[in-house]
Amino acid sequence: QTLVNKGKIHLFRNLLKSTPSSCKCLLVRKHSDGAQRFVSFDEVVAQRRAEARRSIVVQVNSEASFNELYGYCSKYATIAGVHHYKNTGGEHFMLIEFSSEDNLKEIIKSCSTHQKDLDVMALNSPFLWFRAASGKKEVFKTPSMTLSSMDGCSMVDEDELFQELLKCDTVSDQIQLLYDRTKLNDLGIRLRYMVARQVECVFESLYANIAVRPFGSSVNGFGKMGCDLDLVLTNTLTEEMSSAHKRLVFQDKRCEGGRSPRQRHMESVAELLELRVPGAARLQRILHARVPIVKFAHDYTDLDCDLCYNNMSGVHMSSLLWSLGGLDARVRPLTFAVRRWAQAAALTNPHPGRWITNFPLTLMVLFFLQNTPGGCVLPTVKTLVQRAGKEDVRIAEENLNCTFLRDMNKLPPECYSQNKANLQTLLLQFFEFYSQFNFQDKAISINEGTAIRKPNSLPLYVVNPLEQALNVSRNVSYEECERLKLEVRNAAWQLEAGLEGQKNDDWGVLGLVERKTTRGLKKLLRVGNSHRLVSVKDLFNDTEESVSKETLKNKLE
Ligand code: CTP
Ligand code: MG
Repeated sequence: QTLVNKGKIHLFRNLLKSTPSSCKCLLVRKHSDGAQRFVSFDEVVAQRRAEARRSIVVQVNSEASFNELYGYCSKYATIAGVHHYKNTGGEHFMLIEFSSEDNLKEIIKSCSTHQKDLDVMALNSPFLWFRAASGKKEVFKTPSMTLSSMDGCSMVDEDELFQELLKCDTVSDQIQLLYDRTKLNDLGIRLRYMVARQVECVFESLYANIAVRPFGSSVNGFGKMGCDLDLVLTNTLTEEMSSAHKRLVFQDKRCEGGRSPRQRHMESVAELLELRVPGAARLQRILHARVPIVKFAHDYTDLDCDLCYNNMSGVHMSSLLWSLGGLDARVRPLTFAVRRWAQAAALTNPHPGRWITNFPLTLMVLFFLQNTPGGCVLPTVKTLVQRAGKEDVRIAEENLNCTFLRDMNKLPPECYSQNKANLQTLLLQFFEFYSQFNFQDKAISINEGTAIRKPNSLPLYVVNPLEQALNVSRNVSYEECERLKLEVRNAAWQLEAGLEGQKNDDWGVLGLVERKTTRGLKKLLRVGNSHRLVSVKDLFNDTEESVSKETLKNKLE
């Protein structure tokens, strides 16, 4: 409604145009008077969790199994939708959503285990496979719906993406396209909630009030296709469960021994993942970190997962980022462009180390958007805290106060979207802003929305918005911070210079989001060699990345 009032209906249109129809309802919902409104994080999570509770993922032979699978399942339950995908192993899967959780229970009751081997114990899990029919094949009538085929796991084809970026009319269009084509799609989100549900099913019988929730970029609106899946296992007590009036109380079990209870729990979690969660593989236990985690790969969905225990602050952080990202349609595309640039400039790296990661980088974008010339795009977290009501009170582990306004419909329009610049201007201003930022003395705080004095001499200081005594970029080394400073200056220069001249192969964001090592080669491929376009990866197969221009030319010949 606010965007409509401000004449920004085109932003909404763009947002909706680029969104799969099935998840449009998650972004904006209509009031009874027809006006649109923001959907809160809690509402989206509740809807996605409910969706996962009535869905299964079935391994099949191919897309051709659709009619048979649909016909078979329809005997037990009403189907609401079927989505097909392939994992990188080339295996085919269908995610089936049923109309209700009761429907799903009927299906689960009808499942069998496939081996009579006593070493393989049966277990209820929403990940199944579809056995070939024995004997005479049943004939099923044509399904009353079409199969939706989507890439749930794989990332967008880079060459195609760059070709599309080349053809854009404006840099703003390029930034929007980069976002539309690389953001996590509906099936990607569904699969993430399915893995959470699968792990939850296994632990449900062990803990009183267990929940496994995704957090981080899988759910905060800043996730791209292929991003990792951060999961948190919470074992919270409801008010009813902890009521002092109830006379019969469960005997409980205290953790004894030298190690912390959290570590002990995580050890057993890792054991169970190994023993009881089909698809979970290649487990790593990282139990001595501030937040102990178990890492695993989920083979049916191609997801890299990090599971931690009772760390609700991560979920509240996701809620905060979701809210800020949803306030203005420019926030997410701009953040995607910045994250993509940082990846291309090798400022970020998939492995943990002395470099900046996507999370603090996202906070840097949000901070810039609180400081845009001519008025802010985003409000400060302080404003959201001041406007919080009783319903927004959340206290996480260790008494951490995570209270802030959740329902962005209650935020007065003058608190945000004051600056009207397009994405191109914002990206350039982002680089200029950090080219001049005093990293030496100042810390970045989205709570205050202004640079504050650094409490220590760490090279980069980005305040954790929910635990303000913590620096989320404390791992960043002096050298990496210097590189960040250098790269923002280079990017500002490159983008500005590119705006003046003719459109060439590196025009707009192209020069910023392509890896430097492959850029020269791609250029050669584009200019007059597109008829024999080969994968850049193949060319590098037997060469050093720092291969000379001459060698590359020879290879192309
Ligand atoms: N987080 C945090 N403090 C940190 C690092 C992470 O609170 N120092 C929380 C944030 O909520 C973050 C989540 O943990 O979103 C997951 O961290 P990470 O996977 O590093 O970042 P993502 O936002 O998920 O981004 P990516 O796509 O790179 O995984
Ligand atoms: Mg993550």
